[in-house]
Amino acid sequence: MTSSCTTACADKLNLIYFSPTSTTRRIVEQIAAGLKIDTVETCDLTHRPDGINACLSDGIAIIGVPVYAGRVPEVCLQRLQGLSAVDVPAIIVVLYGNREFEDALVELRDVVTQKGFKVIAAGAFIGEHSYSTAQQPIAANRPDQADLQQAFAFGEAIAQQLRDGIATLPGIPGNLPYKERPPLGGIAPETDPQRCTLCGACARACPTTVITVQQTVITDAARCILCCACTRSCPTQARFVNHPMVTARREMLVQNYSARKQPSRFF
Ligand SMILES: Cc1cc2nc3c(=O)[nH]c(=O)nc-3n(C[C@H](O)[C@H](O)[C@H](O)COP(=O)(O)O)c2cc1C
Ligand code: SF4
Ligand code: SF4
Repeated sequence: MTSSCTTACADKLNLIYFSPTSTTRRIVEQIAAGLKIDTVETCDLTHRPDGINACLSDGIAIIGVPVYAGRVPEVCLQRLQGLSAVDVPAIIVVLYGNREFEDALVELRDVVTQKGFKVIAAGAFIGEHSYSTAQQPIAANRPDQADLQQAFAFGEAIAQQLRDGIATLPGIPGNLPYKERPPLGGIAPETDPQRCTLCGACARACPTTVITVQQTVITDAARCILCCACTRSCPTQARFVNHPMVTARREMLVQNYSARKQPSRFF
């Protein structure tokens, strides 16, 4: 993807996603594999604070984001701001942690449509919840093999529809106005200095670059999005979120949202 308008070849796939804990990435990669398009240009927005600056005029796109509080995360909207298209077909994908995806899919459809894409298919898949821990698992190890197979089959089915010339998006669940975003509240993971080796893996994993590792690990909580990429990437389990608000949320999720949900696909 270039920083100016591009004319991609018809057989090109633009794979665009934001994925701090990799569940979104793993699903969109499987959908891409199912499409069987040889030329794939990947734009991983997770570590691109300036986002994408491109205008697509050919090919097809997959755009994937996680669900935060039933919405498209604000950080994704910001990083997608410089993206536009001229009638390029798009497959939109949201990843949620086995609770609900609420208005995230309709929001992503609206955003992507406003950018000039023609949304032809949409999927809501399940990934291990960012707040999940070994002691309190929520959709642990998802997407698993069954999820990945469904994602691959989704890609194959869309490819067939494109060949048949019948790709149009049916109605998808979600409401207008979208549900309100709760304030993030300046909460961030903590670090156990006894376990921390100052290796810096958490800082490298952080999509908002709010971690500084010097003699200690310092986190700018005001800019933390609580994505939990740092807690997952810490090799010594020194990073954790034990704020009472998150603990209560985690308990609620374990109690009420442990039953396995299935991916939803619309095409
Ligand atoms: C701040 C925040 C809010 C979240 N809100 C929801 C939600 O409303 N519903 C849900 O099922 N999962 C929710 N999740 C879980 C993520 O959607 C889920 O873990 C997703 O797989 C993360 O994607 P990633 O691995 O690509 O980062 C939330 C996670 C975070 C960090
Ligand atoms: S990844 Fe873990 S061990 Fe490494 S600096 Fe961060 S908190 Fe410390
Ligand atoms: S510090 Fe916050 S934004 Fe950065 S990786 Fe950790 S949870 Fe995500």
